[in-house]
Amino acid sequence: MRQHMELGDGCPAQLRRAMQYSLLGPGKRLRPLLVLMAAEACGGTIEAAMPAACAVEMIHAYSLIHDDLPAMDDDDLRRGRPTCHKQFGEATAILAGDGLQALAFEVLARHVRPVEAAVECCRVLAQAAGACQLVGGQADDIAGGLEGSSQGEVEWIHRRKTGALIQASLRLGATVARAGPVRQEALARYGRCLGLAFQITDDLLDVCGQEARVGKRVCKDSERGKVTFPALLGIERSVERAKQLVEEACAALAPLGAAAASLEALARYVLERNR
Ligand code: IPE
Ligand code: IPE
Ligand code: MG
Ligand code: MG
Ligand code: MG
Repeated sequence: MRQHMELGDGCPAQLRRAMQYSLLGPGKRLRPLLVLMAAEACGGTIEAAMPAACAVEMIHAYSLIHDDLPAMDDDDLRRGRPTCHKQFGEATAILAGDGLQALAFEVLARHVRPVEAAVECCRVLAQAAGACQLVGGQADDIAGGLEGSSQGEVEWIHRRKTGALIQASLRLGATVARAGPVRQEALARYGRCLGLAFQITDDLLDVCGQEARVGKRVCKDSERGKVTFPALLGIERSVERAKQLVEEACAALAPLGAAAASLEALARYVLERNR
């Protein structure tokens, strides 16, 4: 990842530090792992998939910086450390997010080969990060009040703000491995279920998790009136829904056979996770 943070002389030192702080901090690296595992499951190499793995984490890191800003979730703790704007100030944090977002596409364009695969990766990532997916989900998350929300509406927010980038991670892995339509389709179904399950468990950790483990403040979603699964369905039914989605995700991997064992293990980890 550090190797792909190749910034030229024009990048001010403080901006570079803020970008590195958020990109290289102690996150779980779920999305890059998905890229690498998907590529491997389709017969590709880790080496060929690495630029796409780094690019997706850059988009993720930028989205967390902006998600934590006072105008959005207003959080001061992330990955057990001060959030980017608490550490570097708001203006630098906003710009660090902007810089990471652009860098993601630079890395794809420069390092994914053949060039047709690079173009496809740029398209997939731009779409997932864009106004109809990640950014649109974030906008609805900020605007939404829980009152009157249906389960379908909550799922619609979660699928875009979090699910889209998780789905894109699998798609990127499949793209760099030049996977055929059967594997692409299996991974798309897996990603769709896993993406939603992942945000449900994130919502559950906000209610049931321990701040010291999770590395971010807990019990904040209800304070802010966020549209979450536990708020809508209660804890038990949210856990059940997450379990059901993980089962569906694992079932979708059948066409990939034994090559998908690590993806299956990762899906099961999402249910167990405490951070
Ligand atoms: C947190 O994502 C934000 C969501 C989309 C739920 P992660 O739980 O993957 O965060 P890190 O990267 O491990 O810190
Ligand atoms: C964040 O969802 C989704 C994105 C960053 C796109 P949350 O707001 O629930 O994530 P946390 O709990 O702050 O990590
Ligand atoms: Mg948020
Ligand atoms: Mg947040
Ligand atoms: Mg959350």
